[in-house]
Amino acid sequence: MKYLFELSKEHKKIPTSEIIACLKSENICFSIIESNEDVFIVETDSDDFNFKRFSERLSYTYYIDRYLFSCPPSIVDLKKEAIKNKIESKGSIAVRCKNRSKNINSQDIIRTLADVYSSGREVELDNPDLEVRGLITDSAVYIGLKLIEINRSQFEERKVQFRPFFSPISLHPKIARLMVNLSSIKNNETLLDPFCGTGGILIEAGIIGAKIIGSDIEEKMIEGCKKNLDFYKIKNYKLFCSDIGDISKDIGKVDAVVTDLPYGKSTTTKGEDMSKLYERAFKNISTLLKENGKAVIGLSNKDFINLGKKYFSIIEKHDLRAHRSLTRYFVVYQK
Ligand SMILES: C[S@@+](CC[C@H](N)C(=O)[O-])C[C@H]1O[C@@H](n2cnc3c(N)ncnc32)[C@H](O)[C@@H]1O
Repeated sequence: MKYLFELSKEHKKIPTSEIIACLKSENICFSIIESNEDVFIVETDSDDFNFKRFSERLSYTYYIDRYLFSCPPSIVDLKKEAIKNKIESKGSIAVRCKNRSKNINSQDIIRTLADVYSSGREVELDNPDLEVRGLITDSAVYIGLKLIEINRSQFEERKVQFRPFFSPISLHPKIARLMVNLSSIKNNETLLDPFCGTGGILIEAGIIGAKIIGSDIEEKMIEGCKKNLDFYKIKNYKLFCSDIGDISKDIGKVDAVVTDLPYGKSTTTKGEDMSKLYERAFKNISTLLKENGKAVIGLSNKDFINLGKKYFSIIEKHDLRAHRSLTRYFVVYQK
């Protein structure tokens, strides 16, 4: 089966990296057909994977479609390809297009697709059995049969101000989910956030079914984090108050560490020099993480990225505007 992912375009690399990490977490083998800022198209043999669970994880994708075809944005090509790529499934149909080009008129494209795909079928715009989706860009039109629209409003609904406890350090849920996904954590594996603060990362990891462990040097953070986890009815968690250096080895080795390190502005470092704290953090995270496990770490300064190289190899790194005045660096390290 070929899948077409319509990307949110909020970042050049992040939406694709997130999908790849989630495909890996579901053990799905895939080959890439096309990858650019608008779409990610893959072919996979495994049609029996947990598609619902997989699609519910994503935060930087709009839609997943069954890929039909792509072609240059010309009506002649479009008609030829649509005739070649018939839809076998029965049922009523709707054709919809999203136009990301300022130079192309989408009406002609919709009409051409509708002519081919609605022939011999009922057209039902409100509640169709089948929805043909076109994504129009300057260089190509991508056509798919809708499988699922990603529920991205959930991330806005969980924004920090709607929680019992929050602080200016709290990450936006969409970014916290992204970090969790980049770790490729599997359902039921254990994820540790040793600088958990208000619990933004733990909430997202708990929702996708990971077992979670959180710790923080501040007692009030742990109390607030507990309130937040209970608020979202997350069950499988352990929380404790600890300095990063004192996290007991008896929590066992964890499958992934996902954390947002203090950046010294509004978060406390208890007066410790940032590079010393980061050095200790990398060392202890590597002790707590199982062999080959991934640590996804948010940093405020790109100069700190290389501190982790002593303990890990760097798999990928991304920069992202986390708040209006703050760029965060998200690095995926592997032990
Ligand atoms: C950037 S915040 C984490 C924010 C969190 N991701 C959230 O969504 O709320 C960093 C946290 O590290 C904690 N912290 C600072 N120094 C620490 C240390 N030495 N050991 C453990 N936690 C520490 C702070 O109390 C703060 O809650």
